[in-house]
Amino acid sequence: MSSSASITRYLTGITTTGTPHLGNYVGAIRPTVQASQRPHTTSHLFLADYHALIKCDDPARIQRSTLEIAATWLAAGLDPEKVTFYRQSDIPEIPELTWLLTCVCGKGLLNRAHAYKAATDKNAESGQEADDGVTAGLFMYPVLMAADILMFKAHKVPVGRDQIQHIEMARDIAASFNHLYGKDLLVLPEAQIDEHVALLPGLDGRKMSKSYDNTIPLFAPREELRKKIAAIVTDSRAPGEPKDTEGSALFQIYRAFARADETAAFAQAFANGISWGDAKQALFERIDQEIAPMRERYAALIAHPAEVERILQTGAAKARAQATPYIGQLRHAVGLRSLTQGAAPTVAANDKKAALPTFKQYRETDGLFYFKLTAPGGDVLLQSTGYPNPRDAAAAIALCKAQGGAALAQLAAHVLPVADVEGTQAALNALAQAA
Ligand code: TRP
Repeated sequence: MSSSASITRYLTGITTTGTPHLGNYVGAIRPTVQASQRPHTTSHLFLADYHALIKCDDPARIQRSTLEIAATWLAAGLDPEKVTFYRQSDIPEIPELTWLLTCVCGKGLLNRAHAYKAATDKNAESGQEADDGVTAGLFMYPVLMAADILMFKAHKVPVGRDQIQHIEMARDIAASFNHLYGKDLLVLPEAQIDEHVALLPGLDGRKMSKSYDNTIPLFAPREELRKKIAAIVTDSRAPGEPKDTEGSALFQIYRAFARADETAAFAQAFANGISWGDAKQALFERIDQEIAPMRERYAALIAHPAEVERILQTGAAKARAQATPYIGQLRHAVGLRSLTQGAAPTVAANDKKAALPTFKQYRETDGLFYFKLTAPGGDVLLQSTGYPNPRDAAAAIALCKAQGGAALAQLAAHVLPVADVEGTQAALNALAQAA
């Protein structure tokens, strides 16, 4: 226990759409691969192909993207021995947990999700019905994502800022589940935002992003990489004229790949008036130096899908070794259990406040002070007679909390006849135990 207590569990999902570009590499792939090698951590990394179905209904593309993204991460140095690397849809426990979570998730919580709200707002603007073209899959996206995270008891979820709300929703859903079924069942995750990770500019100087169509593909063939780099915007300064590093997309991309001393030398070259042509050639060579070996590994993996599949199956077996017993525990907790098993003492065992009876002290119009004990369902279990002094009523309550059912005999003169003596005694005992 003591050794596992100091281990931090990381988990990240990778959406399997699109072709990875240099921005993905610098912003997510490279830092995540590095982080997965840190001591005292475990990492789960998975291909979120159930999520991909929400955006894509082309089966061939779903399959192809899964291969490409898996090959990308392996080529970039992810060690499947060290991390648990799997495909979401190989873990049937995830959709099963999704349903358990769906049943405790307020619909209003999902109504407020940014992606869903953006879709309904857009419909409102164009005069459509709010949910026009919105699938239930898009609406449920955050619950599936919560299941991804909670299934493996992740502590930290490294994500971009756009995903913070999803992690908060996972926490909310987990807290609701724990409140109902047991406080230690699910682990509440935290988002981890890496402030140091560089946002890479794209060809036009804006953030590199598929939606701006300004990306440089990570594993483009060498000549295509050279052409793309030649297309990065620059100003019109001639060779020999000093150039600004500030605001230069070229310089920022170089810095994301180079060591500090190389970056300093490149800045000096800018000050000395390096031509844009030479600067682009230097950038191309620097990127290619890092990418070329990966590009080869990537090509080899793409040519051998069976090898990638084997790696994913090994990862799935590792993941399911955790998920299968855990979903069994969660099924049991919610009552999906064999009829031959006794009711688990989960409700009594966790301090579920709502399940305990409560004392209420009050004053009546006769000027006297009373107390009563009410069961969670509203039944009155014990009703006092009037005390002239509030302190005496409070002392009687304290006696019950200290002694449980045994206090009943002492209080006999001050309470109305009890209908179900055994039931009231049991309720008082439960209170005394919880106190
Ligand atoms: N929604 C994430 C994204 O778009 C992908 C994702 C799915 C994910 N499940 C996850 C990320 C679980 C972290 C944890 O980037």
